[in-house]
Amino acid sequence: MMRALLISLVSCLVAINQAGLINRCDLAKVLHEEELDAFEGYSLSDWLCLAFVESNFNISKVNENTDGSFDYGIFQINSRYWCNDHQSHSENICHVDCQELLSPNLLSTINCAKKIVSSAGGMRNWAAWRMHCADRPLSYWMTGCHLG
Ligand SMILES: *[C@@H]1O[C@H](CO)[C@@H](O)[C@H](O)[C@H]1NC(C)=O
Repeated sequence: MMRALLISLVSCLVAINQAGLINRCDLAKVLHEEELDAFEGYSLSDWLCLAFVESNFNISKVNENTDGSFDYGIFQINSRYWCNDHQSHSENICHVDCQELLSPNLLSTINCAKKIVSSAGGMRNWAAWRMHCADRPLSYWMTGCHLG
């Protein structure tokens, strides 16, 4: 009895944890549907590489920065400039509640990411993309993905 309870508790926790993760090709499909393919000159591979280096494909990832701001979601969008976290001062350029950037449907996060990549510097606004994805061959990120 106790053991069964423990097992169901553990599998429940695991399910919640994995709920934050999105499969690479599923992400490619959503990004394609939301017309990020070639948006501002960046390929789906650029977006997949960005999502990997920023969040490891974890939609619910939140990270606190040393300046007290927070990064949200699969693209780790920063609260200082882009979204409102109701804690620290924010420019809130995307006009969005930071919590919405954690939504599993990804729509708010994609809209905000479009704004970021359309601004000066493009994808270079993400330091991790600059360091790990820029000027590298990236097409392997799409390996095995069928956009349907
Ligand atoms: C995803 O991020 C959340 C919040 O940062 C964290 O609690 C969770 O463990 C992460 N999931 C995985 C599978 O790493």
